[in-house]
Amino acid sequence: MENNMNGQTAIVTGAAGGIGSAVVTKFIESGVNVVAVDLYQQALDVLIEEVGTSGGEIVPLAGDVTDPLLAIRAVELSRSKFGGLDILVNNAGMGSDMVPLWEIDLETWRRDIEVNLTSQFMMLKAVIPGMIEQGYGRIVNTASAAGMEGHALSSPYAAAKGGVIAMTKAVGKELATKGVLVNAIAPALIGSGMLDQPWFDEKTKKQLLERIPMGRVGEPTEVAEMITFLASPSLSFSTGAVFDLSGGRATY
Ligand SMILES: NC(=O)c1ccc[n+]([C@@H]2O[C@H](COP(=O)([O-])OP(=O)(O)OC[C@H]3O[C@@H](n4cnc5c(N)ncnc54)[C@H](O)[C@@H]3O)[C@@H](O)[C@H]2O)c1
Repeated sequence: MENNMNGQTAIVTGAAGGIGSAVVTKFIESGVNVVAVDLYQQALDVLIEEVGTSGGEIVPLAGDVTDPLLAIRAVELSRSKFGGLDILVNNAGMGSDMVPLWEIDLETWRRDIEVNLTSQFMMLKAVIPGMIEQGYGRIVNTASAAGMEGHALSSPYAAAKGGVIAMTKAVGKELATKGVLVNAIAPALIGSGMLDQPWFDEKTKKQLLERIPMGRVGEPTEVAEMITFLASPSLSFSTGAVFDLSGGRATY
């Protein structure tokens, strides 16, 4: 694919995680400057060290995506450091203990919705006006196969990711004539740090793996390839859409 992203600027959230760091690596190689957002400065320092310096530049922004001010700071940083903003990759996310819905406490429910859905809303709200003004923008929201299918024992996560999908469809239509394209990805099982979290038990991982016709987990680099295409000017006639990354599992 032709590299037509050189010199553009992106905000990537969850930048230090498995998928996020693969996206940042790919963007930097493509000459894209990145505001890299994640919880801890230390993880962002490791990311910067790993990604190296050839291509675009990285500016770290440590913070919690549930903080309403973080999105505004990310946009300000992108403008002051790089002179604009072309791309948002709304990728930060997390799961929680796998339990039936009726055993989930309200605090856990609210946190999962805040981290996985409301944070994406706040980022969208912060970046979209500037993108409308410049008549160009590419936005990729990370949803999940859980949001398409509803995974048992993950109701807050599934509800949040289903919300991401519906939000993407709605805002995609709202922006369809503005040059700002908003799409979502729905990965199934990707070999990132998420699979090592204590709440993701071995039995569930095995069951999910058995359902993937390709018989393997996806690699973060494979997700990064798709995100990079969706974030590039090569994408021109898709918005409000959901792109599958499930190794053949999805039949919808
Ligand atoms: N790995 C999978 O199988 C899979 C499948 C479907 C969807 N996803 C989604 O992909 C996205 C990336 O996850 P990943 O697989 O790379 O997992 P990961 O755990 O490796 O990365 C997630 C990153 O998000 C960051 N993060 C979490 N909460 C945050 C917060 N409140 N503020 C700022 N940063 C925060 C974490 O620090 C981490 O670096 C997530 O949205 C996840 O839900 C992953």
